[in-house]
Amino acid sequence: MSRLRKVLDPSRTGKDAESLEKTLLKLVVGQDEAIEQIVNIYQMHVTGLCAPGRPVGNFLFLGPTGSGKTRTVEATAEALVHNPRAVIKIDCAEFQHSHEIAKLIGSPPGYLGHRETHPLLSQEVINQHHTDTVKISFILFDEIEKASDALWNLLLGILDKATLTLGDNRKVDFSKAMIFMTSNLGASEMSSLVAPKLGFGKGLPVSEGNESQEKLSKKVSRSGIEAARRKFTPEFMNRIDKVVVFKPLGESELRRILDLELGQVQQRILLSPAEKSFVFTVSDAGKQFLLTEGTDIKYGARHLKRAIERLLVHPLSNLMATSQVNAGDWVQADFDTESRCLVFTKEAEGLEIQTMANMIGENFKMPAVAAAASASADLLKTASAGKSSKK
Ligand SMILES: Nc1ncnc2c1ncn2[C@@H]1O[C@H](COP(=O)(O)OP(=O)(O)OP(=O)(O)O)[C@@H](O)[C@H]1O
Ligand SMILES: [Mg+2]
Repeated sequence: MSRLRKVLDPSRTGKDAESLEKTLLKLVVGQDEAIEQIVNIYQMHVTGLCAPGRPVGNFLFLGPTGSGKTRTVEATAEALVHNPRAVIKIDCAEFQHSHEIAKLIGSPPGYLGHRETHPLLSQEVINQHHTDTVKISFILFDEIEKASDALWNLLLGILDKATLTLGDNRKVDFSKAMIFMTSNLGASEMSSLVAPKLGFGKGLPVSEGNESQEKLSKKVSRSGIEAARRKFTPEFMNRIDKVVVFKPLGESELRRILDLELGQVQQRILLSPAEKSFVFTVSDAGKQFLLTEGTDIKYGARHLKRAIERLLVHPLSNLMATSQVNAGDWVQADFDTESRCLVFTKEAEGLEIQTMANMIGENFKMPAVAAAASASADLLKTASAGKSSKK
């Protein structure tokens, strides 16, 4: 045997992990560390190198409200099993008492209502979103600092041995599950570190240079992890594979989220009954207005979403309900400096669905119905072209 001494590159990821990373980077803004950790764990799962007898991965997500913790979990499910709703969410605050724990694991035989309770964490429930190619479940325990002792013990068993015993003694296997836990612990300390450096509506302080931004980001991260260490026992922290501190979102991140959210609103419009589909655009001044109205350090992107609903979606629904906007229209929203609100103008009408899809751009996913409609329109065209060529 001759020695090759060929240097290998362990930083490259396989196709599956690469495609997961690409999708996550599109859907989640400014939380690259969380994405990297999820992709790493997924890569280990794909190659079968995850520790046996444990969940695929145990993640603890810390950080301020509205910074994308839940969104990241949904986006992972969306990327892997094509369904953002494939996440089983357990709001720990709702399971404080033992009878509430029964909703999760069912009550023991003989107890009142034993037969009627269908445990939320049964094997069938957690496996229900598996696809032919991806057999991973996504379980999210929200606000774990509010978990009762009973829930806590249950959680420790899942994190450590990937098993849960139901009320009727059946075992549930979590070795094909990604477990995500979220907490806002330490969020106020983190905000107070960032807030003095933030002007209203400004992002992390770019002017101070990347180095100081990095330092600040590390400080924020450390303060989050310290808060978690103070609150949670070492036996819990030891069972976590990755603790990720989500950063408060700055202006540039919110700007990108605004575009994502506008895309979602457009998708909602195209999914509405076909006779109502239209396309809308927002001018730069209009976007700036939505950003200014929707920026609040305390509430992150949640505040931005609310501003979009109030200032854009609600007026658009009024325009639809009063038939001022109809199928095939192009509506533009612009900022009016005098009235300081968005003004809506109809720029075109009678557009084909394909023209509207082209206007919306390449990132847009055509809804199945519209796609089918346009495909059948194409078929009709080809069929009639075929007929005319035969003549
Ligand atoms: N980083 C982000 N990238 C993309 N969208 C985001 C991001 N952060 C927030 N959003 C948007 O804001 C909404 C609320 O965010 P999310 O529910 O993920 O917040 P959270 O961090 O889980 O907050 P909480 O601690 O209150 O549960 C999401 O549904 C998403 O539309
Ligand atoms: Mg959340």
